[in-house]
Amino acid sequence: MSPPQDLTANTKYLIPSKGGPLTACNTPKPTILLKSKEVLIRVKAVAINPADCKMIDSGHRVTSWPLVPGLDGAGVVEAVGSEVDSFVVGNRVLATFVSGNRGASFQKFAVVDEKMVAKIPGHWPFEEAAGLGVCYMTAIIALGIGLQSNLPFLRQSLPTKIKPGFNRRPVLILGGSSALGAATIQLLRLAAPHCTILTTSSPKHHYHLTANLGATAAYDRNSRSLIEDIKLATEGYRGVDAIIDAVGAARTDGRVFNAFDPNGSKRYAQVWTGDEEIEVPDGVESVLFRGRDLSKLQGGDNAMASLQALLEKRRYKLPLPVRMVGYGLEGLERGLELMRKGVSGEKLVVGL
Ligand SMILES: NC(=O)c1ccc[n+]([C@@H]2O[C@H](COP(=O)([O-])OP(=O)(O)OC[C@H]3O[C@@H](n4cnc5c(N)ncnc54)[C@H](OP(=O)(O)O)[C@@H]3O)[C@@H](O)[C@H]2O)c1
Repeated sequence: MSPPQDLTANTKYLIPSKGGPLTACNTPKPTILLKSKEVLIRVKAVAINPADCKMIDSGHRVTSWPLVPGLDGAGVVEAVGSEVDSFVVGNRVLATFVSGNRGASFQKFAVVDEKMVAKIPGHWPFEEAAGLGVCYMTAIIALGIGLQSNLPFLRQSLPTKIKPGFNRRPVLILGGSSALGAATIQLLRLAAPHCTILTTSSPKHHYHLTANLGATAAYDRNSRSLIEDIKLATEGYRGVDAIIDAVGAARTDGRVFNAFDPNGSKRYAQVWTGDEEIEVPDGVESVLFRGRDLSKLQGGDNAMASLQALLEKRRYKLPLPVRMVGYGLEGLERGLELMRKGVSGEKLVVGL
């Protein structure tokens, strides 16, 4: 028989100082410290993001140590603040978390603002819901800020400076098999049903990106004829109007700028990877976007509520297959190690 669980105890998986190691540490459960709009979540599964490794290994954006990492996860609502009206105790939820301490996902009990939480429909297991948040949020920003695209599924989103016909112009998404790229393909297809969406990845992911997520065509990112193939897929061999670089691909392959239509908007939206901003050729309009730009987006506060609605209506799919890599401390260590080596078209998930 297993020993009785201490329901007042939290287990945090923390990094004492830059470089690690990940350490399990028991602390009191943070219930009594809830602010009015906060939700306490019993985390059941977490997903690993590249940013977790960047924070742990090089202190990327870390302001103090020890650090509890973890930006993605899913679990059950354990308690709610006095003014929380969208969630009740027992709801199955996913959230985007804030690494640092009480708001991070690598712990049994985490506290997040209610606007960062979404309910999970009954058919979604925690393991699959755990990795939905960060890539969805960043994809919203890639489209809303990077492309200035209308986002009809985002409540209170107003059309911004969209040029007539923009949503029909071809867009190239570099890194379609990354979590961010896969989420962006899906959301762009929802936002612009008639848009020609071209993407790059390893060939083994092409079927998933086109048949399941809605890309018009996918190309081998290492192909010698990449630019020619992309141009051939556009009307009159003109090229694409905009590029979303979900992985910083242009840093190592400057050819991608040749895919632009010389008479198009030549808008290049690059995700902030933590490295120096990628320099662009003259005439290309570069926009750097990152998850924390959400507050700059009209309707951004409703992003998770909109995800909940998309999931309920089955309009948003799992962007990438999930790979469970273990449980607890050992699972987290394994997940981080696999992420350091690099993943291909899958989301690493750990049970807590
Ligand atoms: N600043 C922010 O707020 C924020 C938020 C989210 C993500 N990010 C950053 O965005 C990047 C992507 O994150 P993620 O979680 O989506 O990554 P991920 O899922 O770990 O990305 C892995 C994928 O990247 C693809 N890839 C790598 N280099 C490529 C290239 N040159 N061309 C095309 N595909 C390439 C690989 O494709 P194949 O295996 O198919 O070859 C692989 O499937 C990371 O740098 C991350 O830190 C930043």
